[in-house]
Amino acid sequence: MKKHYIILAIETSLDETCAAVLVNDRVLSNIISSQVELHKKYGGVVPIIAKRAHEERIEAVIEEALKRASVLLKRFNLVRKQGLTLSEINAIAVTVGPGQALALEIGIKKAKALAKKYNKPLISVSHMEGHLLSSFTKNSRGNNQRGIAIEQAQFPLLGLLVSGGHTQLVYVDNIGNYQLLGETLDDAAGEAFDKVGRMLGIGYPGGPIIERLAKDGDEFAFNLPVPMRKRQDENFDFSYSGIKTALLYLTRDLKEQGKLDKQTIQNLAASFQRVVTLSLIDKLELAVQKTHPKGILLGGGVIANQYVRGKIRQAMRQQGLPVYIPYSKKLFTDNAAMIGVAAYFKAQRGEFIRDIDALDRMPNLSF
Ligand code: KG4
Ligand code: ZN
Repeated sequence: MKKHYIILAIETSLDETCAAVLVNDRVLSNIISSQVELHKKYGGVVPIIAKRAHEERIEAVIEEALKRASVLLKRFNLVRKQGLTLSEINAIAVTVGPGQALALEIGIKKAKALAKKYNKPLISVSHMEGHLLSSFTKNSRGNNQRGIAIEQAQFPLLGLLVSGGHTQLVYVDNIGNYQLLGETLDDAAGEAFDKVGRMLGIGYPGGPIIERLAKDGDEFAFNLPVPMRKRQDENFDFSYSGIKTALLYLTRDLKEQGKLDKQTIQNLAASFQRVVTLSLIDKLELAVQKTHPKGILLGGGVIANQYVRGKIRQAMRQQGLPVYIPYSKKLFTDNAAMIGVAAYFKAQRGEFIRDIDALDRMPNLSF
């Protein structure tokens, strides 16, 4: 492979229109156009609205990613004076799933059109592989303090991916060689955060708001059940619908009793955050015991939560295991740089799409 392999990555699996440019595993630009404002009033992502917004924004987001990358590439003398154009790109990467079919379609359509027009190789990437490998991105200024450089990685690793759509434990024998150990049987952890947010009437998306409210709450105020604790020895699966229901009844009772004041909401947020975190740690510890990894990779929107991250780190420190997270908060939630880094490793393995016309979205891809 060329010394400098320039990738344009596109991600439209849900409600963020994203494009990024990478040179190998180094991120030169990572543009995210969020649609949160459009979906807020519905309390969740509305697929047809997401599709239209992706259609409207994709062109400009890609242009911006190329423009920002140009500035850095010129500095490294890697492109001509006029900057980075699609002709200089070595490959185009796109998320094919899992995600919302209507949303995925827009990114895929665009990536296919560009690959054909500019005669570039196309790489399809699973959104979950992107989250898993997000810690392998390097920033443009050289150091990669929080993530892990591929040159230093020791395998096997264990990945814990916690997002709005997924909660998964993945055994990483090597890059490209994965085994899904367990996942949620019902709601994803992020989804539970969002649903609890709605129940408490605190806004959308619930995750970051709950984190903020929990800072002033007592995490032991309510004795909520820790999901899947009893079934610890049996499997690596997660479940969040039970805790969501427990909270629904509790909130309803408190409301009826006129006790749902600000402090109580903060206590509920803190108690909920605590048990969700405990459930993640339970399964992670179990998987560590059974699979003996050399380190942990964290990814997904819920990992943006400092409390969640801190507790996981603490638990893994006791096991003597390093915990890797991406170098920037922007890389936890959906973005195209994580798709780009996964694509870079796929390009090294020669995994390009043979028949571009036949490439289709895979909304139900499991990993
Ligand atoms: O990875 P992501 O951007 O999208 C999916 O692939 O689903 O994750 C979004 C999820 C949402 O459910 C959001 O509430 C949650 O991540 N999230 C958080 C925080 N920031 C985002 N959950 C808890 N605490 C946060 N700070
Ligand atoms: Zn995601």
